[in-house]
Amino acid sequence: MAMPSFRLLPWWKTTTVYQVYPRSFKDSTGDGIGDIPGIISKLDYLQDLGVGTIWFSPFFSSPQRDYGYDVSDYRSIAPEYGSMSDCEKLIQEIHNRCMYVVFDMVLNHTSNQHPWFLQSRSNRDNPRRNWYIWRDGQKPEGKKPPNNWKSIVGGSGWHYDEQTDQWYWAQFLPFQPDLNYRNPEVKEEMFDTIRFWLDKGVDGFRLDIINTIFEDENLRNNPFTLKLLPSEEFDKSYFQNKMYTINHPDNFTFVKELRCVMDEYSDPERFLVGEVAASLETLKKYCGEGRNGLKTEGLHLTFLFQSLNTNLDADTFRNLLSRYEQYFTEPHIPTWVFSNHDQTRRITKLGNDVNKAKLNATLQLTARGVPFIYYGEEIGMLNHRFSLKTAKDPIALKYSRLPGFLVNLLTRSGSILLNRDECRTPMQWNSSLNAGFCSKESEPWLAVEPRYETINVESEESDPDSLLQCYKSLLRLRRQIPALNSGSMRLIDLSTHKKSLLSFERRYDRQAVQIWLNFSNRRVQIDEVQEKAELIFSTLRESTPLSSSGIQLEAFQGIVLETHHE
Ligand code: GLC
Repeated sequence: MAMPSFRLLPWWKTTTVYQVYPRSFKDSTGDGIGDIPGIISKLDYLQDLGVGTIWFSPFFSSPQRDYGYDVSDYRSIAPEYGSMSDCEKLIQEIHNRCMYVVFDMVLNHTSNQHPWFLQSRSNRDNPRRNWYIWRDGQKPEGKKPPNNWKSIVGGSGWHYDEQTDQWYWAQFLPFQPDLNYRNPEVKEEMFDTIRFWLDKGVDGFRLDIINTIFEDENLRNNPFTLKLLPSEEFDKSYFQNKMYTINHPDNFTFVKELRCVMDEYSDPERFLVGEVAASLETLKKYCGEGRNGLKTEGLHLTFLFQSLNTNLDADTFRNLLSRYEQYFTEPHIPTWVFSNHDQTRRITKLGNDVNKAKLNATLQLTARGVPFIYYGEEIGMLNHRFSLKTAKDPIALKYSRLPGFLVNLLTRSGSILLNRDECRTPMQWNSSLNAGFCSKESEPWLAVEPRYETINVESEESDPDSLLQCYKSLLRLRRQIPALNSGSMRLIDLSTHKKSLLSFERRYDRQAVQIWLNFSNRRVQIDEVQEKAELIFSTLRESTPLSSSGIQLEAFQGIVLETHHE
């Protein structure tokens, strides 16, 4: 007898991930900074929302110059966020609710205040010297950087250190020196750090700029390119083709080794998601080929940032879906990400339009792949404009020194966010002063976005038409319907006059659902609907009924139909 060819996918392929930026989620102490006990007090909200996994931006010890992405001790918790026992309680409380927990691992660099770096920079003979990347400057005096390499944020990535008359390498900001993974001690230490957290029950890691782990050992200069603004793939920018500093082939081997560490753990299986801005081809190299056709051997997932700046139109998404399906068929799986702590919030890119945000969410939560939701995205939190000069974000401060015309040039495309404070404002829980993020007497670390009086969890909980209710319904469907969380995907061909429509089918065994999305600002008639189809979701509460002559979709409406197959 033939074995059934359908099986439910592992948990990390069917889950939905919710990103918490700990500093901005919920303050429990009155210092205006979010913290772990605050997060614990909101876990019921996240469970009720219906997400399966929570990813936390780092809360390890850190001088907080890049708000946690500059770690000074990977095995302790920054006191403003809580204690180790708060952290253990957090993991436990998440598991008690049958959810999973993902930590953010910054492997590429540490803070320059990390004791390793302080030792490393102290003198050339220090045993930790080779934990970072130190080189002599160019001859004759050595007062010029070792080569032409630029950091990913612009400017040379080499920084001169007078004390030992050498230069250290930093892919990101000068206070974030790169670790040297060509030194086996470093690799061993960081793999043990991963094990330390896995032993505590962490279910996965988001890997910060994992495509910058290795650089060319011979320090060959990067070639010139005409490109100023970062390309979608981030490997060409600021007039440099970063072939020797980004996506170095040794990275692909490194992630396989990391995968072996993860595979030491089972029940549940643990997973890695890499932050890599690259072409689909390169991204796939980070995942590796499927072993025995069943498992990949590198990263389980990589963010596919291709969706970040997509226009809300049918053609663009049709192309994107088919490219994802071409590159990420089983055992690979795409990810769907539209916002995060470095990006302009998606709804702001959509003109702060809630109907468009609902349509976008329908696509994100029904297409094949693992969706990542950024805190506040589910209630439609907007970007908040702040001036560059008074920013907290170190990137914004760096750019605030640039002449105005250059800032305008960089931001004009809308795809680069120079001041990341704009998308990191406190979570809006209710309409009281400070939006329920911290007490009314406290001053939040970043100002609350002014529209919090209407855009907040409490008001949207009681409004059946809200964006929050739309997310909840979609997440419920995603959990309950195997076709949506584990099924195959097929784009449905539509006649050419329906250019503004996108439709696809998800199928699992005999169960099929169809998703219909109207990307235009006009009503569209669909005739191609099966007679026995059943409407199981709509972004609009008042939807026209299904009839034998089809269904009409209003402007920017999205629906999900359950269809029947014999
Ligand atoms: C990643 C993080 C970003 C951080 C940077 C340096 O891009 O998402 O927030 O500033 O890496 O760690």
